Amino acid sequence: MLNWDEPLTPQAPRAPEPSLDTSAISTDPGMIPPIPQDILAETPPESLLIVKTPVIAKTPVIAKTPDAVPVSAKPINPDDKRVVNGLTDINQLAPFKYPWAWEYFLNANKNHWTPLDINMTQDVHDFQHKLTLEERHVYENVLSYLTTSDIMAMRNIGLAVMEKMTAPELQIYQARQVYEEAMHTWTYQHCIETIGLDQGEIYNRYRVVPEIHHKIQMCNQRLDSVLRPGIDLTDRDELENFVMAYTFFAGVFEGTWFYNGFSPIFALQRRGLMKGTSEQLQYIMRDEVLHASFGIRVCNQIVLEENIKLDPKMIQQMWEEAEAAETQYAHFLLPDPILGYSAKDHIAQFRFIANRRANKLHHKIPFPGAENALPWLDEQANLKKEKNFFETRVTEYQTGGALNWD
Ligand SMILES: [Fe+2]
Ligand SMILES: [Fe+2]
Repeated sequence: MLNWDEPLTPQAPRAPEPSLDTSAISTDPGMIPPIPQDILAETPPESLLIVKTPVIAKTPVIAKTPDAVPVSAKPINPDDKRVVNGLTDINQLAPFKYPWAWEYFLNANKNHWTPLDINMTQDVHDFQHKLTLEERHVYENVLSYLTTSDIMAMRNIGLAVMEKMTAPELQIYQARQVYEEAMHTWTYQHCIETIGLDQGEIYNRYRVVPEIHHKIQMCNQRLDSVLRPGIDLTDRDELENFVMAYTFFAGVFEGTWFYNGFSPIFALQRRGLMKGTSEQLQYIMRDEVLHASFGIRVCNQIVLEENIKLDPKMIQQMWEEAEAAETQYAHFLLPDPILGYSAKDHIAQFRFIANRRANKLHHKIPFPGAENALPWLDEQANLKKEKNFFETRVTEYQTGGALNWD
């Protein structure tokens, strides 16, 4: 047996493979190769068997009937693909029905970094010597909320959403998204560790701080409702619940709570503080813009394909509950304003961004009259970084196409 810890040694010459009777094997390239009969007939010693299984007889096993092995299969017609409830072969990527999904995947790969690429030295000094107590409170609690949130984002897309997709080009972007969410969690952990915060205490805050707990609980309820085994999306109620949950995660959770959630730290960055953390969050924000935009597009596509009519009252309620939770959170984070940022700014910006996401989802605008309280926030999402992070960085960071919400 090969051992990773030992150098490779030359292998003994292998005995010739038993010859197969190939007379029944089709020359069709799509034909599944037959399994050698000797392997099928081999059984472990009886002493290793817990339950005795019948020995497979050495009778011909090469399938000869079209029922057992497809002799030919028609190429997939991309028009037959569907986001959910599709019946086309999930293993065949192209031709695409959703070429935009493939473009998202290509663009996502242009925003590649790790938290170790960014210098955090000045942040340690800033946190210890420059931040006020109120600013430390903001910094710690933003990280506390984000660490838990990104784990939920990963579980949602990887465990609840991906498995329900029936077109591979959608799943491939979502697979990248799962990786990115894990990367984001690593980033927060890296910040917490580098600054020297008490990990156990910071990670536990979402359980003991009601304003953080409430937002996490709202996510958990949506997530639990679509993580149950055996969900049948041909059932209209289940399908609508799934679309509502995905809409919540893409439009509210990623589209506003994340997008808006970084801004208190960016406010510090604008004063020359915590610039390393802010740079980390800028890279995360670029990912999140794509996640939210992709999720919204998928939800719209399901609504179109499945002819779903979501209840407008239910949608308005979702936005209002999200606003109420964000308002509580903002007042906890900023009982008093810090220099350049206040709870009032935070809530106003939530409403403004929520309207933008609702518009993309073809919902009625939930907060008419909301104004752009933080016009500088969009600049953070559209970060252009052409430089190398450090001299040691071999490859240039590539920027994606301009990210435009309007
Ligand atoms: Fe994330
Ligand atoms: Fe995300």
